[in-house]
Amino acid sequence: MTSDSFQEYDDNLMALLEAVWGEGFMSPGGTDEVDRYLSGIDLADLSVLDIGCGLGGVDVHLVKQHRAAKVTGIDVEPWLIDRCNALAQKHGVDDRTEFICVDPGPLPFADSRFAAVTSKDSIIHIADKHALAADIFRVLEPGGWFAASDWLSGYEGEPSAEMQAYLEAEGLDFGLATANTYADALTAAGFVDIEIVDRNEWYRQQARDERDQLGGALYQGLASQVGREFLEHEIDVWDKLIIALDQGQLRPTHLRCKKPG
Ligand SMILES: C[S@@+](CC[C@H](N)C(=O)[O-])C[C@H]1O[C@@H](n2cnc3c(N)ncnc32)[C@H](O)[C@@H]1O
Repeated sequence: MTSDSFQEYDDNLMALLEAVWGEGFMSPGGTDEVDRYLSGIDLADLSVLDIGCGLGGVDVHLVKQHRAAKVTGIDVEPWLIDRCNALAQKHGVDDRTEFICVDPGPLPFADSRFAAVTSKDSIIHIADKHALAADIFRVLEPGGWFAASDWLSGYEGEPSAEMQAYLEAEGLDFGLATANTYADALTAAGFVDIEIVDRNEWYRQQARDERDQLGGALYQGLASQVGREFLEHEIDVWDKLIIALDQGQLRPTHLRCKKPG
């Protein structure tokens, strides 16, 4: 995840997130979570769009493990596109991936361009869920799947004081919405077979494990890599995150639905 307010920490933040979440990942659960939200969907030989590709870990995994024919990753940060290309090259999948820097807004692709669309924990940054759902529907082939994970809110209206404290500490550009809003957006776009699976319970425990790692096994190595002050700031973010999760204000969630064939 990135933000203007922490732009100077970008390399440090990426180093910390990869230490906690694995190579190429800026979101929790790594490849296991990708496999979980894609379970039962066969991507072999298909052309796949990944919205918010970040460091490229999802895209490499979709080619290597899910045997996608071609993965197109899009992101709004040019330096992340460079990181994705480097990761794809390192893993020898650069001939089956492409990474494109896009402006926020409509997806710059033709109708029915992709057989599947995915996204891991990135749609949170896109405030208009209805416009995005309609656009994903447009770029999907008939019969194509949209399968993703994302950070959802557990509240309508104003967040709790503790959730607000977490959002401010994280300093990111969030466009949080509830499961009801996502369901409504996907339905209005024309999707069918909509499944929304809450992952709050899983991540409440996982986030505690991550917090323990940051303060324990990872601490010395990360302190010398990213600096003690930045590491302490991030540990504070994790503490606030855990409270927001415990309150049910923040709800990691899996989404899947189909464009009618
Ligand atoms: C939390 S990161 C997740 C990255 C990656 N999917 C992962 O799981 O490691 C969110 C990503 O969404 C990107 N992003 C933000 N707004 C976007 C937009 N409008 N279109 C595409 N990507 C966007 C950010 O630059 C960031 O790389």
